[in-house]
Amino acid sequence: MNLLDGKLVSAKIKEDIKRDAAAFTAQTGRKPHLVAILVGNDGGSETYVASKMRNCELVGFESTNIRYDVDITQEQLIKKIEEINHDPTIDGLIVQLPLPKHIDPDSITEAIDYRKDVDGFHPVNLGRMQRNLPCFIPATPYGILLMLDHYRIETAGKKAVVVGRSNIVGSPMSILLARNSNPGNCTVTITHSRTEHIKEEILAADIVVAAIGRKNFITAEMVKEGAVVIDVGINRENSTETKSGFKLYGDVDFEEVSKKASWITPVPGGVGLMTIVGLLKNTLEAARGTIYSK
Ligand code: GUN
Repeated sequence: MNLLDGKLVSAKIKEDIKRDAAAFTAQTGRKPHLVAILVGNDGGSETYVASKMRNCELVGFESTNIRYDVDITQEQLIKKIEEINHDPTIDGLIVQLPLPKHIDPDSITEAIDYRKDVDGFHPVNLGRMQRNLPCFIPATPYGILLMLDHYRIETAGKKAVVVGRSNIVGSPMSILLARNSNPGNCTVTITHSRTEHIKEEILAADIVVAAIGRKNFITAEMVKEGAVVIDVGINRENSTETKSGFKLYGDVDFEEVSKKASWITPVPGGVGLMTIVGLLKNTLEAARGTIYSK
């Protein structure tokens, strides 16, 4: 088993981003600027947004976290988004998901100017991604591609099975792996809660991407000898063993699956760190105006 080491790869790419951000700042007199909107007090979301903001500072970006109480209305939120859309000092905008039930995430996603949509969730970016045109790619699948690229994992012609069809990970990941690009050119199967014989589907995969949000769902008996296993799961459980008061578990039973896999990502220290890198790269591109000119 070889480790797909998110700590190592993310640190290396962040050094490159830091250098590029410094060049951008020297040229323009301002830093790339990301705004993150957080609604309510979801523990996981607070941790993720804090990490995104901290990483922006680390690579020399400006970052702003706007927080709202859980009872903000959809209209108020959209008004703020439109204000940011028109603010030339802001390059990228993300609204952390999930949102409270009374707010429709699709309406929020579509309210964001696609040229500032560094999450890559806007239908314009999704459509362009499917067509293999320049666009913002959702951060987690982008991070996974960067990881596969770093380790020169062969994907062309391979059978990839994506477990989970979320808008954030599973669905875009399946499109990206099937595209005519590198990494890509896989034969992709997307599986979900209604898939029959899911174990057999996963067992046939050369590359498994697990993004279902269920602790240790993928067991050793579901994985082919020599498969590449990418674990997107970040399942939090309370724990007295850690300082933070919780422990993270992947969607993959790492201990057992790592005995069969040729390459595997750990949790933590795998895909989560690469997601941040994807977001930082998108924000830099938004500032430079290389995907959509300013
Ligand atoms: N919630 C979980 N992952 C993400 C993400 O990548 N972006 C946003 N905005 N919310 C999320």
